[in-house]
Amino acid sequence: MFSKIVYCKSLKCGSYLVHGSQSGSLSIQSQSQREHHWKMSHNVDVEKCLEVASNLVSEAGRLIARNNEQRQDFVCKSNDIDLVTQTDKDVEQLLMDGIRRHFPEHKFIGEEESSGEEGVKKLTDDPTWIIDPVDGTMNFVHAFPHSCISVGLKVNKVTELGLVYNPILEQRFTARRGHGAFYNGRRIHVSGQKELGKALVTSEFGTTRDEAKMKVVHENFEKMARKAHGLRVLGSAALNMSMVALGAADANYEFGIHAWDVCAGDLIVREAGGVVIDPAGGEFDIMSRRVLAAATPELAQEISKVLTQFHPLPRDD
Ligand code: IPD
Repeated sequence: MFSKIVYCKSLKCGSYLVHGSQSGSLSIQSQSQREHHWKMSHNVDVEKCLEVASNLVSEAGRLIARNNEQRQDFVCKSNDIDLVTQTDKDVEQLLMDGIRRHFPEHKFIGEEESSGEEGVKKLTDDPTWIIDPVDGTMNFVHAFPHSCISVGLKVNKVTELGLVYNPILEQRFTARRGHGAFYNGRRIHVSGQKELGKALVTSEFGTTRDEAKMKVVHENFEKMARKAHGLRVLGSAALNMSMVALGAADANYEFGIHAWDVCAGDLIVREAGGVVIDPAGGEFDIMSRRVLAAATPELAQEISKVLTQFHPLPRDD
């Protein structure tokens, strides 16, 4: 019987699980033993999940890239700038059906399913795929080439894998918890920038025009335009976060995002060495519809002190 499990990162060969037994002796697990332990206790083969998800997003990506060659018809969801196309629905269906074939007991929180009558499903400890089939739908409708598929997998409410794929520009970001972040197969790291005055910051106008939120958006844009090195609006929350992971941008913040916009991006940023927190400076809460990602804790804290705060309602839970 083990009395406690401690992560020990100081050992030379990466991270090991060190088990302290009741008698006080220690045993050390290697990476492969740790993965075996993980599979046994949670019955989730994360490597296999990543392989399945990667193949499915490649297939779905072909659909997005083909349809992005011309402007798309759309339907408005909650308001006149919250859009959905047939491709959003087809891609979500393709991903969910494909994942279900391999993992029939896994659950889903998908953007398009969530806009139905049942609303956003409750996040439980069960393996749950959090999916945005087309993040940047406004871009997609206009054939502006910054849209992506965003897929995250949570087990016991912890994100185990994240995948953000822009099939139009062939940009694929992937991360597995504890295994680093990658861009088109190459390991990536955040920039290391600590000062807002030298930081390239990304944010968004969002998909509502409600007055109170717009006032905060404008106030914060004005502050960033004065204090940051530069401000960019890509039109996709998941790609904004991926740019932080890539070291191409230094920070991203937004009020009004949903869990499916940021689940994958959160892990990709953290696995690239960055931080993801609540914009007021506390712990990130994926259901709060608030996010601040940055290359360093110093930069994140500096931005959190500058931002005018907003708490979008309803939350995602
Ligand atoms: C939206 C985009 C947009 C961001 C919104 C998201 P969607 O996702 O990421 O850039 O401002 O908050 O909801 O609707 O294109 O999937």
